[in-house]
Formats: sequence, C-alpha cells, structure tokens
Amino acid sequence: MSQSLKRLIRLVGPQKRRLIASCALSVIGTAMGLVPFILIYLAIIELMEPVVNEAYIWKLIIGGIAAILLKFVTMALSGSLSHIAAYNILYDLRIRLAEKLGTLSQGYFNTRNTGEVKSTMNDHVEKIELFIAHQLPDVTAAAMVPIFTAIFLFIVNWRMALATMAVIPVAFLVLGMSYRGLGTMLEKYYKSIEKLNSTVIEYTQGMAVIKAFNQTVDSFARYRNSMEEYRDFLWKWSIQSVPYWTLFMVLITANVLVILPAGVWLYNAGSLSMADFILFFMLGLGLCEPLVKLTTHGEQFAEVVEAEKRINGILTEKPLSEPERAKAPSGFSTGLLNVHFGYNETEVLHDVTFSVPQNTVTALVGTSGAGKTTIARLIPRFWDVRKGEITIGDCNIKELPTTELSSLTAFVFQDVFLFNETIYENIRMGKKGVGEGEVIAAARMAHCHEFIESLPNGYQTIAGERGAKLSGGERQRISIARAILKDAPIIILDEATAFVDPENEDLIQDAIGKLSAGKTLIIIAHRLSTITEADQIVVLDEGKIVEKGTHQELLKAGNMYRRMWEAHMRAQDWKFET
Ligand SMILES: Nc1ncnc2c1ncn2[C@@H]1O[C@H](COP(=O)(O)OP(=O)(O)OP(=O)(O)O)[C@@H](O)[C@H]1O
Ligand SMILES: [Mg+2]
Repeated sequence: MSQSLKRLIRLVGPQKRRLIASCALSVIGTAMGLVPFILIYLAIIELMEPVVNEAYIWKLIIGGIAAILLKFVTMALSGSLSHIAAYNILYDLRIRLAEKLGTLSQGYFNTRNTGEVKSTMNDHVEKIELFIAHQLPDVTAAAMVPIFTAIFLFIVNWRMALATMAVIPVAFLVLGMSYRGLGTMLEKYYKSIEKLNSTVIEYTQGMAVIKAFNQTVDSFARYRNSMEEYRDFLWKWSIQSVPYWTLFMVLITANVLVILPAGVWLYNAGSLSMADFILFFMLGLGLCEPLVKLTTHGEQFAEVVEAEKRINGILTEKPLSEPERAKAPSGFSTGLLNVHFGYNETEVLHDVTFSVPQNTVTALVGTSGAGKTTIARLIPRFWDVRKGEITIGDCNIKELPTTELSSLTAFVFQDVFLFNETIYENIRMGKKGVGEGEVIAAARMAHCHEFIESLPNGYQTIAGERGAKLSGGERQRISIARAILKDAPIIILDEATAFVDPENEDLIQDAIGKLSAGKTLIIIAHRLSTITEADQIVVLDEGKIVEKGTHQELLKAGNMYRRMWEAHMRAQDWKFET
C-alpha cells in the first residue's frame, strides 16, 4: 500500500503545481460551503437583540450569496485543473505502457491473456484518473474542512464540541471492520474482471466460428461461467460489507442525538446560548457530509492502489535483455546449435542443430506441430532459447542489440496480420521513412499492385480489422511486399497452408523469388514441390531433426522425407472420382 502510494505520488510529480492549486481551491470551495451556516448563526445572535439592525442582516445575506458564488467558481476551477492534470498524466502513462509492451518478449503475451493487458491499458489506467482528478482535491477538502470546523467549534464551546464529535470514532471503528480483507477481495475482483474481459474479446473474435457451428451464448460455456463467477463474487462481497457500511452511515449521522441532550443540559445550566445551540446543530450535521465522502474515497482508493499495482507490474516487467557489449555480425549466415525450447514446461524443440550459410536457401519441413514455426520465431528472438544458442554471422543473437537484430531479419508470418489501416500504411511499416515510389515498387514485385489499384480507394483502402476485407492470398502478398520493402539480409518465411489455387500460388512463388534473391532464406514449406531446389532441406519430427540434405539426397536415403514426398505426389495426382 505505502509503496503504491509512493509510486502514485511520483506519477503525479510532473503536474504538481496544477494539483496543489486544485487542492487549495477545493479546500476554499468546501470551506465556503460552511460560511452560510456561520452567517445564519450570526443572524440569529442579531435577531435576539432587543433592537435588530436590519442593514446588518442584509449584509449577512449578501455575504452568504457571495460565499456560494465563490464556492461555485473555486470548485469549477479546481475540477478543471485536476482534470487537465489527470489527462496529461494518463496520456503519458498509456504511452509508457505501450512502449514497454513493445520491449517485452512474445513470451510475455503468450502467458497472459489479452483481457489482462487490455484491462490494464484501459480500465486500470482510468482508475488513476479517479485518483488524480477526483480523490486528491476531494480528499484534501474532505479532510481539511472537518478539521477547520472542529477547531471553530472548540473555540465556541469545547464541551459541546466534544459531544458533537463523540460518535465519529465509533463510526470509523465500525467502518474499519468492513475494510478487513478488502485487499484480497479487490485482487479477486480484478481477476474476475480480467477473465470477463478476455472471454468477451474471445467471444467477439470467434463470432464467425460460433455462428458457423450454430452455438449460442448459452453454449459458449466459458463466457457464461466467467459472468456467473463475477456475479457470485460481487454478491458475496456485498453481503459481507453491507451491514457494516449501513451501521457506519447510521452512526455518522447520529451525532444529532448526542448534541440534543448535551445541548439541553448545558443550556439549562446556563453555559450555552440558544444561538450557539443552533450553531452546533447545523455544523454537527454539516460535518457528516465530508466524512462520508472521505470513506467512499477510502474504498475507491483501495481500488486505485490495486490498479496501480497492475500498471506497475507491466512497467517493471523485465524487457528482452540487451547485450552489455554489442557485437557486429561478420555476415548473414544463420545457425542453431543444440537448441532446446518450450513455451511452457513441455519442451517442444529438442537439441536442434543446423546452419544456413549466407545467401543460401534452407527449407524446414515436417509434420504439423513438429516445431517449424517455433524455430522461425526464435531467430528474431520472439522468445529466447532455453538451452543452446542461435547465431547470425558468428554472433550469438543475444549479443546483438535488439534493433540491429530486427533490422537483419524480415519475417513473413504463417497467419498474416494486417492492421486496420490503409493498405499503403500496412506495406510502408516495413521500413521507416520511405516514399510512395518505393512502396509501389515493392507492391509490384510482390504482385499486389494490380489488385490494390483495382480496389475502390486503391492504396488508401482500409484493410479492415486484421485484414478481414482481403482474401487470404492477397494478405499474404501484402505481407511479402512489406518484407521486400524492409530489404533485410535474412528472410524467414512461414508459408501459409491455405490459398493453394494454382494462380495465386504462382504469384506468391514469384513474389517469394523476388523477395529472397541474394538473401539468406529460411523457408517453412508445406508444399514440397516448391522447395526441391533448396540448398538444404531440414526435416523435423516432434521437435527433433530427423534428416538433413538436398532433395535428391533425401529421396535417395528413403526415409521420412521420401515418404512425405510420395504422399505429396499422390495428393497432386488426386482427382475427384466420378
Ligand atoms: N504460443 C504457443 N504456446 C504454447 N505452445 C505452443 C505455442 N505455439 C505452438 N505451440 C506448441 O509447440 C509445438 C510446435 O508448434 P509449431 O507451431 O512450431 O508447429 P509447426 O511445425 O509450425 O506446425 P504447422 O505445420 O501446423 O504450422 C506444438 O506442439 C504446439 O502446440
Ligand atoms: Mg507452423
């Protein structure tokens, strides 16, 4: 809690001046709210005089109106200042979070669900707004004003002041009881929200499948379960805290019941004037409101602390390690040496070793799930190997600065991801600062210029979420154009399994040829006929290399590759029997 508070204070540092001004204005504004009570008190004293000074009463009324106006102005200013400060801080925080996410390994996203990251970026950051824009000024005022009031009341009549305050400690004691275990409760609360978030994301992203298989919300059990869990949790929580909370509310407003007998007694004893008696009634009630406010903020503050912890969790996550002394690769040969790797406890790559000389083509083939894509992902360090090493130009890739490594490799993914941006921007992200000419040249080489031109808005057409508005083959070619533009010396190509219509295949083959001319190429191929010319074919099975060689050598050896080849040939000859 105290660590979180320290971090929160550090967070608001850059907006310190605005926030101090906001808090000061908020205190003034809230204090102004008490002025009318005091003016009424003075008016009553005056009305009890034998000769009433009417002009004085009018002055008091005008004073009251002025106080209310001033309250309005100071509160509005305070709110504006705190909101400006809050949104500036939130903006910086979101940028910092996004930048941080960019430095983390893919492994981070693999072990967490998208709901968790989304919750932090959106909801938890929003909670910080609550703290800065509302709690800081409100809590300062809600704490200062009762203190001012109490001092004032003690000056007027210390015995009555004690009576007015008597129930407050009892009320807070009760409240303290309701806060027991709040920390763990909130942690559970956030967990269930995160779960809810990720199932909602999954539900909407998987809508096509859900429809195609005629599923309903009801049968999408995970969604229903997480909703139920959330509901049950809140239900239990309410039952636990409501009695205490209600008792607190009753007690905090019950001071009137103490003021009344104490007042009557002191009045009869002659040590309390009627005007003072009335004053204690009014301010006694006026005292409750800020105190109630303070407690609601207390509860919300616990939420802010929990949210801050999660934000801090991302900000302090260890990024992909950078080398202490950066090395420069001597060339672009690439190799794996005794590599072991697993996404979790189960190892999926076992002792994989092979090397790809500069400017040659190596094909990775093997059954589905053999670990081909995994190998491809390890080369640009989406994940770090568990054992063994990966080298580029005789340097361990961990000894290359991550930006350098990223500029050395271009990746065409098995499942192409396009941003919901123009096609132009989707291609252009291959390389910073290139002009239209280069983008179009790359698109031409990747055989997508013609179809892009034929779209209603040409290069300015929005690709749709995840590229949904384009066909699979078109997306593949756009991603090849992106890689051509990047012009990296090492190309890793994870061939898509679908889009096998012959025309598209020819176009893609030709595009790949242009992309990889004069480059070091690692290609994961599903159609063996496309890689017969490769300098080396590496055959994988269940995370192990079972064979290495050229097409001819492997055919001659007569092992797994030969069997795969024969199966492939049979599939080519396969005809629809009539
Ligand atoms: N993100 C991931 N998290 C956990 N396990 C994974 C992940 N990606 C793949 N795996 C597992 O790792 C193993 C190898 O998967 P990989 O994607 O490398 O296979 P592949 O050879 O590319 O298969 P395909 O030909 O079907 O694309 C599989 O058992 C798979 O279930
Ligand atoms: Mg794969």
